[in-house]
Amino acid sequence: MSRLFARKPIEDLQPPGSDARSLKRVLGAGDLVMLAIGAVIGAGIFGAIGTAAAGQVGPNGAVIRYGAGPALILSFIMLGGACALAALCYAELAAMIPQAGSAYAYSYATLGELVAWIIGWDLILEYAVGNVAVAISWGDYFTTLLRGVGVGLPIWLTTGYRTALLSSNPDLRGLLDTAPQLAGMPLLVNLPACGIVLLVTWLLLRGARESSTANNVMVVVKLLALGLFIAVGVMNIDLSNYTPFAPNGFIGIHQGAAIVFFAYIGFDAVSTAAEETKNPQRNLPIGILGGLAVCTVIYVLVGAVLTGMVPYEQLGVADPLARALELTGYSGVGWLVAFGAVVSMSAVLLVFQYGQPRIFFSMARDGLLPAWAARVDPKTRVPYVTTLVTGVIVAAASLIGDAAETFDLTNIGTLFAFVLVCAGVLVLRVKEPNRPRPFKVPFIWIVAPLGVAACLFVMVGLPRQAWERFGLWLVIGAAIYLLYGYRHSRLRPPPVLGRTLRSAPTSAWSKMKD
Ligand code: ALA
Repeated sequence: MSRLFARKPIEDLQPPGSDARSLKRVLGAGDLVMLAIGAVIGAGIFGAIGTAAAGQVGPNGAVIRYGAGPALILSFIMLGGACALAALCYAELAAMIPQAGSAYAYSYATLGELVAWIIGWDLILEYAVGNVAVAISWGDYFTTLLRGVGVGLPIWLTTGYRTALLSSNPDLRGLLDTAPQLAGMPLLVNLPACGIVLLVTWLLLRGARESSTANNVMVVVKLLALGLFIAVGVMNIDLSNYTPFAPNGFIGIHQGAAIVFFAYIGFDAVSTAAEETKNPQRNLPIGILGGLAVCTVIYVLVGAVLTGMVPYEQLGVADPLARALELTGYSGVGWLVAFGAVVSMSAVLLVFQYGQPRIFFSMARDGLLPAWAARVDPKTRVPYVTTLVTGVIVAAASLIGDAAETFDLTNIGTLFAFVLVCAGVLVLRVKEPNRPRPFKVPFIWIVAPLGVAACLFVMVGLPRQAWERFGLWLVIGAAIYLLYGYRHSRLRPPPVLGRTLRSAPTSAWSKMKD
């Protein structure tokens, strides 16, 4: 039994030495804040915010979740607080264990192998399933963009089967009958969503490197798009839209927060840049917390303006920011914001589509996944097997998936990872109190338990279906671990940290700096 909880010594998690193949430390605190904004602002603020404000009704008319209404800003503030607690804990571990693999690596050192596996398995929900949601939102905004220049695609080519199936909108549900049929099934596919994932995968397989310059340009586009939305929107606020402020009381604020939590996901990904960060002990915490603070302020402003522009009930659409501008007579500005949304989400897709294969890669080099998954192309140094597998699965799911249900699944998985990270910090404080901690969470006995409680609380706001699916996901993961990972782990017998490990790129931000 104790083997299940074997911990990987932190020494084994330190980055390889400074040979020619190790990563270069080039990123400063400012770069990290930009990386955080690059990874964070995307489908959550451009897409999920609409459902969070308006709520969601199922095909049979039953309420799936209550909307927050204008009180959405309280949801954002609440989430900012919960994420700050988790971010502090991430920062302590990231500074102490500056290694790619993020929460997976931290939990291997703190809570043991079984929990590490669960986290690695769980991170698939954050990265791969999260990207399905981002791709679907990308497709929605891309379709809006095309419409703006007079190009209309047939609706059955831009709507996933599950979106039609789960919708309460009679027009969308009607597609189940009116769409062309293939083998007796309605042919309802989201081609733009699938296409962008395949394109990103192709770029990554070619060894495409996101440069920090490109990231900075995308961040500027994001900020300009949201800035434009706020500037135009604030002049068109109708104060009567703020009444009632919280139409569904606290339950609406809570359930709204549970879906729009998606907007905050990504700041933790900055921790994977640990091996490329100059003075990580100082810069990582600044990057993580600074990025989070900037995003929280932006989200509160966008939420306040959006719910002031149009009645919150009208926001339950796939492209709520563009829609609000259209409804207030600013279609042209809506088009520009849609353009910004497409760029923003492309950046998020790239980051997560880059990160997921590297988490698989870390797990494979630890023996928890088959060794072939850790194959690296000698020329491009891309872990091509995991990149390809991730790309094909995410593209296929984007083709037929529904955004709201994937948001939920991503959120529950990510929140669970946060819970384990908060717990892990405490465990390590107890087990290894004297280990040097370049960054120490202040008031750890308050911050960490509060972080656990806050994340669990947000999780409780998710629909029952999300919990059921999450439970099933964990059961499947546990079965795979017992059948494969437990027997092949490199921790038993002692780890063989060979050449394959050292020669491969290990971080989502690998080689990012121009
Ligand atoms: N926070 C990221 C987004 O909203 C995942 O797209």
